[in-house]
Amino acid sequence: ASTSATSVSISGDISSQLHGGYSHPLARSWQAERQLTKSMLIYPLFISDIDDEETLIPSLPDQHRRGINKIVAHLEPLVRKGLRSVILFGVPLAAGAKDALGTAADDPHGPVMASIRLIRQRFPQLFVVVDVCLCEYTSHGHCGILREDGSLNNESSVDRISDVALAYAQAGAHCVAPSDMNDGRIRAIKLKLIEAGIAHQVVLMSYAAKFSGCLYGPFRDAAGSVPSFGDRKCYQLPHGGRGLARRAIERDIGEGADIIMVKPASQYLDIISDAKEIGKNMPVAAYHVSGEFAMIHAAAKAGVFDLKTMAFETTEGILRAGATIIVSYFTPQFLDWLES
Ligand code: PBG
Ligand code: ZN
Repeated sequence: ASTSATSVSISGDISSQLHGGYSHPLARSWQAERQLTKSMLIYPLFISDIDDEETLIPSLPDQHRRGINKIVAHLEPLVRKGLRSVILFGVPLAAGAKDALGTAADDPHGPVMASIRLIRQRFPQLFVVVDVCLCEYTSHGHCGILREDGSLNNESSVDRISDVALAYAQAGAHCVAPSDMNDGRIRAIKLKLIEAGIAHQVVLMSYAAKFSGCLYGPFRDAAGSVPSFGDRKCYQLPHGGRGLARRAIERDIGEGADIIMVKPASQYLDIISDAKEIGKNMPVAAYHVSGEFAMIHAAAKAGVFDLKTMAFETTEGILRAGATIIVSYFTPQFLDWLES
């Protein structure tokens, strides 16, 4: 609307000029506070008690369940490409392997304990995280020990879960990550690690804000951990529970967690940003879960978008929200897609 001289309008309003700042690919990458790197990624591995197994999981694209004899050959090329960390999940398939107490979880000869030792020995640079839960090992498929009425017995569950975590740590896990959501398990695990004299060398990563919902379906197919009755709504958080998630995060930090995790990721970016604010002095992790991963694959297959572009857009969204550690089934592909 100015009618003044040309020089005045040129030197006038510059506040709308943004394009120059992201005109070059490198300048575009500089707009991100944090850039995705290989060291931020943790790759989930499903390890069964059938030593030679290598089975594709139908609902979880490109992901396999493997026996211990197939682990090294699978990891070798990935480590060469820069894989830094894995998270292990045990999958007992043998008849009679499951019982009410989840006894197989810390079987010293079971697949998880054996693969911790194997991976530590064969890949000394790899950081080994082990998921700690009972649902893969219990006959009822819930994440703890049950009372007669079917509800979780918090006290005996915490006792058992902390024993399992200690066993994994003693077998050589760099990090134990309880995903069970029983109250007080972080404190119980930390105390057992201290008592055993290994608290100084083990990272305790809490699945602090883990929401219940429909995004864990492919994982439960892979791990055979669908509950035989009921659901997990009385221990995993309700979708709307932002305040509850903040309390769970605060609590787990107070109980001695070294890293707090939010899960799922894309649907809970506000929670990731809350976790970063509450845990501003610690790393925040996010689990981009099986259902999120499967959804992206399904949409890419349907022609909705390009898989790689969406993998980056989603993962960078999780980073932007505040996570700097991401558990992702895309990890093998990111090792190819990322230059460093
Ligand atoms: C075990 C566990 C689950 C996941 C991680 N640890 C399943 C569940 O709680 O039902 C989900 C991971 C995924 O969906 O990729 N408690
Ligand atoms: Zn569980």
